[in-house]
Amino acid sequence: MIEQEPQFADVDHVAEGYRARGYIPDRRIATSVFLLTRLDKPLLVEGPAGVGKTELAKTLAEVTGRPLLRLQCYEGQDDTKALYEWDYGKQLLYTQILRDKTSELLADAPDLESAVAKITESESVFFSERFLAPRPLLEAVRSPEPVVLLIDEVDRADEALEAVLLEMLAEFQVSVPEIGTFRAERRPYVVLTSNNTRDLSAALKRRCLHLTLEYPDADREWEIVRSKNIGLAAELTRQLVNLVRGLRELDLRKPPSISETVDWARTLTVLGAEDLRADVLADTLSVVLKYERDVARASAVLPALIDRVIGGPGRQPEPADATPGVGQAADHPHPHPHGTADGRAARLAKDQPGRFDRGYYGTPDLSRRV
Ligand SMILES: Nc1ncnc2c1ncn2[C@@H]1O[C@H](COP(=O)(O)OP(=O)(O)OP(=O)(O)O)[C@@H](O)[C@H]1O
Ligand SMILES: [Mg+2]
Repeated sequence: MIEQEPQFADVDHVAEGYRARGYIPDRRIATSVFLLTRLDKPLLVEGPAGVGKTELAKTLAEVTGRPLLRLQCYEGQDDTKALYEWDYGKQLLYTQILRDKTSELLADAPDLESAVAKITESESVFFSERFLAPRPLLEAVRSPEPVVLLIDEVDRADEALEAVLLEMLAEFQVSVPEIGTFRAERRPYVVLTSNNTRDLSAALKRRCLHLTLEYPDADREWEIVRSKNIGLAAELTRQLVNLVRGLRELDLRKPPSISETVDWARTLTVLGAEDLRADVLADTLSVVLKYERDVARASAVLPALIDRVIGGPGRQPEPADATPGVGQAADHPHPHPHGTADGRAARLAKDQPGRFDRGYYGTPDLSRRV
């Protein structure tokens, strides 16, 4: 008899749990998580970099007390890294140790053919669970305790891997031809994330609940920064958030995300800033903008932006830069809507050494990439 796990009572309960662990959700996020846990459907979280997609899954594991299994997807990944592998080393070791036994078994075989036939009879011993090296999908299905399974950046995976995911997502089961089908006794909570750098298959989408994350509204971003206990004054944080929101409206290659706002707030705290000083902000723009072109573009309108944010002389930025809505409440749309950005370039640009935490399965070897 499987013990009942405590469940979220309602959407507010989800929101409280997330807040208590430092993730500030809006109503839509909390509702999606609640439904994921109640409908037993995977949740596909899409959105630009740094809006809290991965963190949403990690926090779910923390709030529910379930272990987190993560699969980091990347181009060229084969399904053995996602599902399972045969532990060749262990198989070899066993055959070495069992050499005498094997010789005994084959002693009365008159020729090569019958020796092979005899070995084939015993093959199943070496292709049994004992020699299976599970990877996250199989591990999630076989785990005696229910887990949270994070399939991160699924848009990086090839379509072949997507097909492998389908069985798992639809049935919560994994087939190993030599052994049979493993089916989850306790269904994992599955979260997939995507940066929208390519279209995912309709079959995959159909199996998931959807949540599109955008940059948060000003109030929520303020709350997120404050929740990190950085030590920046409340009003200055408000102004900084509005300044970053202004930067996001520029035509930038990589608009600043939540983590960049947090980093800028930390930077200003370390520098002892007490207000938004144009020189300090200009000197530290590279904390939030990662491309030279973006820094140049932002520098040109920074004074005007600062004036608007702190309610100064009210100089308007150049019309071409279209810097509207500083401080507006509505969430911004993703600047590279589905399919318009060069997906491959966007994916590669993210691959800096150190990007993948330890503990991810099958991460690409970035040291070999030039
Ligand atoms: N709602 C939130 N509450 C608190 N912190 C948040 C929230 N959203 C994002 N963050 C912070 O922003 C940072 C980036 O989040 P995360 O790594 O989850 O982004 P992502 O969407 O997975 O980005 P990428 O596409 O680059 O992987 C994290 O350090 C996280 O702490
Ligand atoms: Mg992520």
